[in-house]
Amino acid sequence: MQSGATDALAVVHEHILVCTDCPLHLKRIQAVPGTGPAGARIMAVGEGPGETEDRLGRPFVGAAGNVLTKLLESIGLRRDDIYITNVVKCRPPGNRDPEPAEMEACSHFLDAQIEIIRPDVILILGRHALARLLPGAGGISGLHGRRVVRGDRLYVPLYHPAAALYQGSLMRTLEDDMRKVRGYLDEADARRRQPAPAAAPGGQAAASEPALRLVSPDPIEPVPPSAPPGRDQLSLF
Ligand code: URA
Repeated sequence: MQSGATDALAVVHEHILVCTDCPLHLKRIQAVPGTGPAGARIMAVGEGPGETEDRLGRPFVGAAGNVLTKLLESIGLRRDDIYITNVVKCRPPGNRDPEPAEMEACSHFLDAQIEIIRPDVILILGRHALARLLPGAGGISGLHGRRVVRGDRLYVPLYHPAAALYQGSLMRTLEDDMRKVRGYLDEADARRRQPAPAAAPGGQAAASEPALRLVSPDPIEPVPPSAPPGRDQLSLF
């Protein structure tokens, strides 16, 4: 299973490296598929490669990457254990924001990466990744540090690490939010360690949870009216 996921992820990476589906490929040095193990429990999704990433072919290896690495380490996570990628896989020229058509053209790659890795939690880094992964959920200022469940996926939106480089006060917010992430992970571990419910008399033992799913059945906030109709239920807790 694990090597199947590793192989499947490698195939996605190969497709990304030769992709010419949007104009971003014209100016790139190389595409930046993502780094980390296919079995990662945690995935982090940023906006798009910057200059250093374009040169080195790895995500978050510039100044924002240093902030991300430190934030992960501050809660005892090793960067190498996390799968890190971006909404768009090629650098937008001059580090401009990715355009909607570019994000759309690239979106099937991110969908495939999430589907293969099936992480327990997806850290959403910044507003572009938030708009792509949780359309209609709300803005980053209201959602940062909170758990958001949509469908069978758990997300935690965070301010983009680069924002802390420009606005020092956001570093504190990011550090606080990372501590919350640590708490969510510890809670999930505790749930995982709980013994499986005993078999009902004459019945089958309940199947143990295949993977961590921190899904609260009780949304504490209603689905935002702006959520696109037909989307999965969104709950915040
Ligand atoms: N580096 C990345 O890979 N992504 C970002 O969003 C910013 C810097």
